[in-house]
Amino acid sequence: MRSLSVLVSCIALAVASTLPSVPEQLPLSAYQHAYPGFDLDLNARRLVQMEGKAPVWMTELEKIIAKAEGVQFFDITDTQDLGFNAHLRHQSTFPSLNATDQVKSVLKTLSTKGPEENLKKLSSFRTRYYRSDTGRESQQWLFSKIAEITDTSASESLRRIITCTEFRHSWAQNSIILRINGSSAADEVVVIGAHLDSTNMWPFLPAPGADDDGSGSVTILEAYRALITSDFRPERTVEFHWYSAEEGGLLGSQAVAKDYESRSVNVIAMSQYDMTAWVKQGTREEVGIITDFTDHSLTKFNKQLVEMYLDIPATETRCGYACSDHASWMKANYPSVFTIESKFENSNKNIHSSDDRIDISEEFSFSHMLEFSKLAVAFAIELGGWTKSK
Ligand code: BES
Ligand code: ZN
Repeated sequence: MRSLSVLVSCIALAVASTLPSVPEQLPLSAYQHAYPGFDLDLNARRLVQMEGKAPVWMTELEKIIAKAEGVQFFDITDTQDLGFNAHLRHQSTFPSLNATDQVKSVLKTLSTKGPEENLKKLSSFRTRYYRSDTGRESQQWLFSKIAEITDTSASESLRRIITCTEFRHSWAQNSIILRINGSSAADEVVVIGAHLDSTNMWPFLPAPGADDDGSGSVTILEAYRALITSDFRPERTVEFHWYSAEEGGLLGSQAVAKDYESRSVNVIAMSQYDMTAWVKQGTREEVGIITDFTDHSLTKFNKQLVEMYLDIPATETRCGYACSDHASWMKANYPSVFTIESKFENSNKNIHSSDDRIDISEEFSFSHMLEFSKLAVAFAIELGGWTKSK
């Protein structure tokens, strides 16, 4: 027993030294007792996949430490077979832009009002950690907000082709899937996503997650609001996804992608929004286009959308292995892209801490976020198509 407690103290010290905000004198178990609203077993065994290595088993605590040290990974414990049908999907091509008038008319209706209100609320939960009570409550709040927006902004007949469902996981926080049914017979799906969870480097501490990824979550919600306000009826099915548990190793998006792959759903394009608010002081305002672990031709298409519809330029940058939910779709060979607030090196350094707040700095910008809502609107219309009214 004594050797075990020595071991736990050693681990606590190791975590404390990597995580500056963890007071060194407290043993790890104290945190679990201090925060009963968490359902997190630090000794649970997880299967973790890092770049270029065979998957390894480790404890939840070791996984948290690895993340704090900057190691990037998929937690594949429940999704080992994701990508089993990847070979069935081949390189796709994407159309040239041809819905300029429709896109521009929807862009005019975008506003920072909803995103400001919604992000204030989302970042007011103590944490949106996927295994916490407040993580569950924040997800339920978002689900009801989406329902309210649908009720107040979509016409009655449009509402008949919209469904919003909670995608359940083995933890309490669900992912959310909003579907606008396409009119065409071909069962093709366009996905726009963000992650709704947040974390502190040490998960029991506060994590407002305003930028990571409250910003992306409200960015795509505003795009959705504008589209349905304009009575958007897509030819292809267009879906908005809010993933749970990205911070645990892309758990929510892998579960969703695995479900789609096993049902042979034909996702023709996926676009991830993770961190859309930060404009570092002294830098030019731009849109970061991630070029690693993304689909090359969809990235080229996405860049054309930026050039055509946004008021700020694109800049290419990289994010590394498994850095956000687009990677789960790429693993199954579904074409995906990732657009971010800036070049990687100019991105918000307050993430995964209690300082990831709206009011931390003037660098947090709602007008910058709105540029990304424009991009999501353009992506939905140019790839989803707009059904001609009869
Ligand atoms: N939003 C971050 C990814 C990110 C960080 C993008 C900094 C750009 C700049 C994301 O939520 C995250 O934390 N990703 C982890 C990987 C995840 C699988 C645990 C990461 O990149 O370490
Ligand atoms: Zn993060």
